[in-house]
Amino acid sequence: EVLSTRIREVIARSSALEGPLLPILHDMQEHFGHIPSEALPLIADALNISNAEVHGVVSFYHDFRRQPAGRHVLKLCRAESCQSMGSDAIAASLQALLGAELGETSSDGAVTLEAVYCLGLCSCAPAAMLDGMPIGRLNDEKIIDIISQVRG
Ligand code: FES
Repeated sequence: EVLSTRIREVIARSSALEGPLLPILHDMQEHFGHIPSEALPLIADALNISNAEVHGVVSFYHDFRRQPAGRHVLKLCRAESCQSMGSDAIAASLQALLGAELGETSSDGAVTLEAVYCLGLCSCAPAAMLDGMPIGRLNDEKIIDIISQVRG
């Protein structure tokens, strides 16, 4: 009940805007840290669009989280330059070590692993961003470092 009141407040703030869906979703994520499932039907209702439409937009943009984030957020670049420099192997190691797939949070809540598509760090590929801090030339050693940082 309290949650839906807060969701309605967030919706109300932006619903008068033209093209209100994205501003509402951004506001929602800022407010709650993710897009609560309960929000989807309320947004659809308020904007007079279908649940499927809201759902489609939320899943299209990688920035929108469906679950609360972990204490840290690690964004791993999955775009071309980083791929050509071995980001597949980096992703596989990270996923194995954290026990979380891209888009998931490790079970200890330490870190959310997310895919991004170019961080503008192509010259230091493969690249990632830990809590907003860029990390380039990822290798096994740096991965171990990152893991101990987020779990420390
Ligand atoms: Fe990875 Fe540009 S492709 S930073």
